[in-house]
Order: sequence, then structure tokens, then C-alpha cells
Amino acid sequence: MKSLSANEELDVFYEYLHFATVSARPEHARDLRLCANWLLDLMQSWGVSVSIEETGGPPLVLAKFPAQASASTTLLIYGHYDVQPAEPLDLWDSAPFSPELRDGKIFARGATDNKGQTFSLLLGLRDMLVMGALPANVTVMLEGEEEVGSPHLAMWVEQNKGALHCDAALICDTSMIERGWPAITTGLRGIACFDFEVQGPRSDLHSGMFGGPTPNPAAALANILARLHNDAGEIAIPHFYDGLIEVSPAELTCWQELPWNEAWFEHATGIAPLAGEQNHSILEKVWSRPTAEINGLTSGYQGSGSKTIIPARASAKISFRLVPGQEPLRIAQLVQPWFEQELVRENVTGRCVYDHGGDPFFTAPEHPMMDLVGRALTQAFGRAPALTREGLSIPVAALLQKQLQVPVILAGLGLPDCQAHAPNESFPIAQLEGGARFIKAMLQEIGGV
Ligand code: BES
Ligand code: MN
Repeated sequence: MKSLSANEELDVFYEYLHFATVSARPEHARDLRLCANWLLDLMQSWGVSVSIEETGGPPLVLAKFPAQASASTTLLIYGHYDVQPAEPLDLWDSAPFSPELRDGKIFARGATDNKGQTFSLLLGLRDMLVMGALPANVTVMLEGEEEVGSPHLAMWVEQNKGALHCDAALICDTSMIERGWPAITTGLRGIACFDFEVQGPRSDLHSGMFGGPTPNPAAALANILARLHNDAGEIAIPHFYDGLIEVSPAELTCWQELPWNEAWFEHATGIAPLAGEQNHSILEKVWSRPTAEINGLTSGYQGSGSKTIIPARASAKISFRLVPGQEPLRIAQLVQPWFEQELVRENVTGRCVYDHGGDPFFTAPEHPMMDLVGRALTQAFGRAPALTREGLSIPVAALLQKQLQVPVILAGLGLPDCQAHAPNESFPIAQLEGGARFIKAMLQEIGGV
């Protein structure tokens, strides 16, 4: 097997990025399937045994890398080949599915989240294969519906635990602290997503003819949404905080050494970070406290000028980020009756539709495999990893932990300025190389080389 030159590697990476694998959009189902087949062909051409697994959604790509006969440890690597929608397109400096190299970074949707991170590990594994079989058994699973909450994955994992049998799982879909400073992420928030729908009059009405006595669904929804939080910034739904597991003082102390403060958040967002629960630091607010966010709000006339109507309907997309101790289905059981009561209070009808959810994740940092990953990261990036949490959600993390009962280790390669989910997403070539070094160091450690 011939090793790929740096240019050839980049060409293959560009091919990967060309697939518009937007899992949120039904019209991209074919792109997802083409991409899965492309991954299958790619790894098969390396001599890896690969299969396409049907889950009911976009296919899962499952690859088993050849290992030395003496290999006694099995590592499961998880990644996803689907991406977020690229819109708004006019804010991109180059087309999202035509990767472009500028300033040592590759710009494309999915460059960081998660094609680049996944690809850097594949490059590292391939590099090792060129020298012969791997010192550990490696199974790679790449799914195609992470960005929509992996609705079909849980069932497939439950029914195929044998195929995923391993001693540890590595998820490479989180962020480093900054360039050259890796991180092991010990916690993620879970998520529960809803549609709040409010129905007012049977159809849009003339607001002069009917305005006054007629309940306005947009106003009703605005009132309800305003009551999601109390004045202290807490979520006001009864029992929402029940069972929540607080962060240990030791972990809080670790976080004080990290380079994030109010100024960083203000710089990153363009707005002072003053919202949320009082008496919690910014890092607590994004890593270990739950939230309720309004992600979208729709009602009535949106065009230019004015239009004097009472809209018939109003709706909102709401998501809750959850922390250890909270479960999406239990949250749905609290949110739905709360919303129904609120509708009655506003004299309107409507419904609350639970869309999808994912469990929060937490792992204790003390585990030999965690130490091993720490050493591999140190070797690859020249600096020992910090222990962090992240506010985002990767539902598969808790799923693998629960179903496989193995340590699940989150060591990602994203950087805070990679613009994941946003216009001009990018991934530095240096991170591609770093990820390849990391996985090689990790396998060498496992093999005791
Ligand atoms: N890779 C991200 C999550 C992430 C990014 C974790 C950076 C830590 C650091 C993942 O692809 C993602 O975006 N997840 C979604 C999941 C949701 C749609 C169920 C999220 O958190 O919004
Ligand atoms: Mn993502």
C-alpha cells in the first residue's frame, strides 16, 4: 500500500467535503447515501473491511481495521458524516460545498464538524496501515444523522452491541481549548427540542374589524415565552431542576484556570454575556447549567411595510439544554402540561410537540484509558490536555456509555474559531495533521510500542 502525499490527502478530503450531507433536509438523502458509499469505497481501497448498515435513516458506515494477531484491545471510534444546513449562503466567502484553502485553513460546511475531525483520524489510521496491521483492533462507526439528534441510532446500537464490542470508545467531535492546547471533555449537555404551536382565530383577520376582543396568538405566545424564565433567569417550569447533579467544587476549581472570561464571550458573540441564572459563572452557565432557548419564532406578516391583521397562528421552536440528572423524556413530561396550562391562561388553543432529545453525558476523569488518551494528546500537540465540559450535545456519547458499559472518551480537534454550524466554517490543515498524530500516538500507546 502506497502512502498518500500531502496533496493527495487534501484532494481526498475535498472530495469528502463536496457531498452536501445536510441531514436536516429530506432532499439531501441521496447525498448522504452517496457519501456513505464513498467512505465505504475509500476505506475498502485501504484494505479495511467496511459495511453499510441500515438503521432506517441515513446509513451507518462501519469499518474494522486489520490488526496484528497479538492485538488485545479494541477501540471504537465514532464520528458523523452529516452536516448542518449551510444557510445563510450569502454570508459565506466561498461556496459551502466547494472547499477552498485560505490561510492554511479549509473552508467548507462540515470542515470541522465533523468531516475534518473524522478524516484526520482516518488519515492517521491509514498511515499506520501502510506500515502493517494496527497494534489494536479499531472499529470506526460513522453515522449520518447526528445533526438531527440521531433518531435511529439508539435502536440500532441496542440491537448490534456485538458489532460495537470494544474496551473503550473515542468520540472526536468536540473542541480543543485553543490551537496547541488539547482538551478531554468530561461532560456534555443533553437536549430536548419542541415546537410550541398556538392557534388563534380560524384565519387571519382584519385587526380593525376584530381587534380588541379577539385573542392574538402572537401576543399569547409572546406572553407564554416570557414566562419560561423568572426574574432571576431561572427556568420557571415546575420541577425543571429536580434531580440535577451539581458540579463538584474540585471541577469548578479546574475551570478557573481556563482562558475564558466575560471579555472572551463578548468578543466571540458581539454582546455582553449578561443573561442566564444569577450566581453562576459564565462557564457554569454554558457547561453545567440547563437552558431554555427560543430558536425560532414565527407569526403573522413578515414582509415590508405594514399589514393590519390578527394572525391565525403563531409558533416557536424551543430547545432545552439539559445537564446530568435530567432526561429529555422527563423534561417533555414537564413542558407539555406547563404549556397547555399557559394556553388556557391566554384563551387560545395549541399544542406542544416534542421533536427530539438526547441525554446529557458525564464521565469521571479517573480511568487508565483517559490517562492514555492524555499522553497521546500531549505527544501530538506538545501540551497536556485540560479537562473541560462543553455546553453542546452529542447524544451518542451517553448512548454508548449506557449500552456498551465502556469508558467513552471525548477528545476533539475543533477550535473555538472554526465556526462550526456557522457561515465560513473551516478546519486548519495543522489540525488535520495533529489529529493523525494523535490517533497514531494513541494506538502506539495501546500496543505498548
Ligand atoms: N460536534 C457537535 C457538538 C460539539 C461541538 C460538542 C463542539 C462540543 C464542541 C455536534 O455535531 C452538534 O452540533 N450537536 C448538536 C446535536 C443536536 C442537534 C442533537 C448540538 O449540540 O446542537
Ligand atoms: Mn454539529
